Amino acid sequence: MIHYLCVMVEIQKQIEQYSNEINVFTASDADSLEQFRIRFLGVKGIVKAMLGEMKNVPPDQKKEFGQIMNAFKVLAEEKYNHEKERVDALGGANKSNIDITLPGNPLPVGSRHPVTLMRNSIVEIFQRLSFTVAEGPEIEDDWHNFTALNLDENHPARDMQDTFYLSTDPAILLRTHTSNVQIREMERQKPPIRIICPGRVYRNETISARSHCFFHQVEGLYIDEHVSFADLKQTLYFFVKEMFGEDVKVRFRPSYFPFTEPSAEMDISCMLCKGDGCSVCKRTGWLEILGCGMVHPNVLKNCGIDPEKYTGFAFGMGVERPALLKYGITDIRLFSENDVRFLEQFSGI
Ligand code: PHE
Repeated sequence: MIHYLCVMVEIQKQIEQYSNEINVFTASDADSLEQFRIRFLGVKGIVKAMLGEMKNVPPDQKKEFGQIMNAFKVLAEEKYNHEKERVDALGGANKSNIDITLPGNPLPVGSRHPVTLMRNSIVEIFQRLSFTVAEGPEIEDDWHNFTALNLDENHPARDMQDTFYLSTDPAILLRTHTSNVQIREMERQKPPIRIICPGRVYRNETISARSHCFFHQVEGLYIDEHVSFADLKQTLYFFVKEMFGEDVKVRFRPSYFPFTEPSAEMDISCMLCKGDGCSVCKRTGWLEILGCGMVHPNVLKNCGIDPEKYTGFAFGMGVERPALLKYGITDIRLFSENDVRFLEQFSGI
């Protein structure tokens, strides 16, 4: 009996040790896995040897010991299968039956919106002339959008810029131009001021292929001592050459804005027909690009700037119109329909 007990304690101890060994085993390659198999699961392996010890176990303990032996055998087998799967997978990759010259699965690449592309190139040209970007709110009050810009409450020019109002507070509206940023910046800082104001604006207009109830503008403002109309023209000449090329001609036509005096519209020669006249330029050979002028003294006064000391110029242009021209797009509504088939055509530009 004592003999049996000693044998069983001994077997149990050995199984424990071997189990630990199995638990920490990882096969580094097919060879070490094969060695593991021979050592534990081979014909002369440890599992077989341990099972052979069953004959020394007294009959009343055979059931309990059988379970221990069986668990040990399963442990060794499962470890072997697990490691084999892993080593096989590694071996498969190493055997280079993968064609690494095949093209990968392409990741979908997003693209910038054409309006963003056009806005960025406009802004970038003025940044080279030391204009800095200023932004303001799209939901604006009457003062900053109209009144401070010399557009009193009953000014007829307000009709040209009808917009969307809050019915609960008609003094709050969606801005009709980015000129509100002029006012905010002149209220905020002292001259010299040299800013460029990109942003979204709104007008209560019928939506068609050529106009929308919202669009984008870039407005510029330069206030300092002795700023003249000649500075305005030179600045815009530089912009046109950089944006549309050396060959493009420029003309100024007298115009009217309540916030500038004198005011002008600037046209460029149509780059599609080179000035001969086509459907895009309505047979005139010219395309209207922007409005501009010298900032009205009343506007300077409204913002606490002395018009006797300072002068300045301002200009404002739409972003959609030149984008339509540049990319040959015929319908402005495409810009806001979020159709990826349209938008993805601008990737890589
Ligand atoms: N704010 C004018 C518009 O939206 C454009 C403009 C800006 C004209 C600055 C003159 C000076 O039509």
